[in-house]
Amino acid sequence: MQTLLKKITPQSLKEAKEILLSGGAVAFPTETVYGLGADARSDDAVEQIFRIKGRPSDNPLIVHVHSDYDLSVLVKNVKPYVQALREAFLPGPLTLVYESRGTVSPKVSCGLETLAVRVPSHAGAQELLRYVDMPIAAPSANISKHVSPVTAEHVYADLAGKVPLILDGGQCSGGIESTVCDVTGDIPVVLRSGLISQEMIESVVGCCETYTLRAGEAARSPGMKYKHYSPRCRTKLFPSEALADAENCFREIVESGETCYILCENAVCERFPSDRVLDLGKNEFEMAANLYDLLRRGEREADVIVAIEPAKKDGVMAGVLNRLRKACAE
Ligand code: TXA
Ligand code: MG
Repeated sequence: MQTLLKKITPQSLKEAKEILLSGGAVAFPTETVYGLGADARSDDAVEQIFRIKGRPSDNPLIVHVHSDYDLSVLVKNVKPYVQALREAFLPGPLTLVYESRGTVSPKVSCGLETLAVRVPSHAGAQELLRYVDMPIAAPSANISKHVSPVTAEHVYADLAGKVPLILDGGQCSGGIESTVCDVTGDIPVVLRSGLISQEMIESVVGCCETYTLRAGEAARSPGMKYKHYSPRCRTKLFPSEALADAENCFREIVESGETCYILCENAVCERFPSDRVLDLGKNEFEMAANLYDLLRRGEREADVIVAIEPAKKDGVMAGVLNRLRKACAE
């Protein structure tokens, strides 16, 4: 299959719509990462997404809709506090998990009774979703377990030959996947941290918990149990206070003749040769925006990425650290 990469224009949107209506898949930009979209109402269209990505069949997908879409078509028994969350954060990088009405293919939620719904704020994503006016199931547009794509070129590197069309909307501004928050209970529960932090949700609803998977327990968000976001080179991760250990590790790898890059926050970059540094940036938003692009650069150019955790741990950094740790997990 030939894969076309096209800027978002009336013509490319028309082509995207034709592909989606005939059950095919199209990659498109959002403000977090690129998504691989298909008609959420069609079993076959949804199944193909799992096949293209090599995604485990028990890891459910998020449905994407435009900001005027009537959500009550998709979900039911919505808790009163959800209205305030929608007003504060939608459209934007917050995915809410509701009780499903069962109007989309059961394959989207892998048989669960719930449905994850996202209203992206990216102008190109909104244009596409409004133009097709249907729920689009879309995971991140990468091969399963690889680093998520934040440019159309990243999508092409993973999915060339597997999808007919990639809509190019430039580099994603957010850089890590949306926060996934379960709103089926009396208190919102963050299942995957992201650009809308637990603290931000708390400030609107008054309370919010972050779910942590306990040993032996079934994952409430099935994606949590899988290895994720991994660059295709060796990695080593050091806590922020183990800077000296990271420096020693870097030196040893260089002395062994291998190419080693350091992935770290801006404040510690100057300790390393500038042509070997992947600079995450100065604050949590810069670090989220840069992380995946730097991991992909690292895997192309280095034998080993030595990563040092940034000092800040809360807020949006909870999401960045979660991705960094999974990317560097054994
Ligand atoms: O920012 C994003 O969310 C991107 C863009 C493309 O919108 N999408 C994305 O999708 O990251 P994906 O498939 O890579 O991650 C979806 C996450 C998984 O962790 C999955 O387990 C969780 O959402 N999820 C989906 N449906 C769920 C449900 N019904 N209950 C609990 N977790 C769910
Ligand atoms: Mg993903």
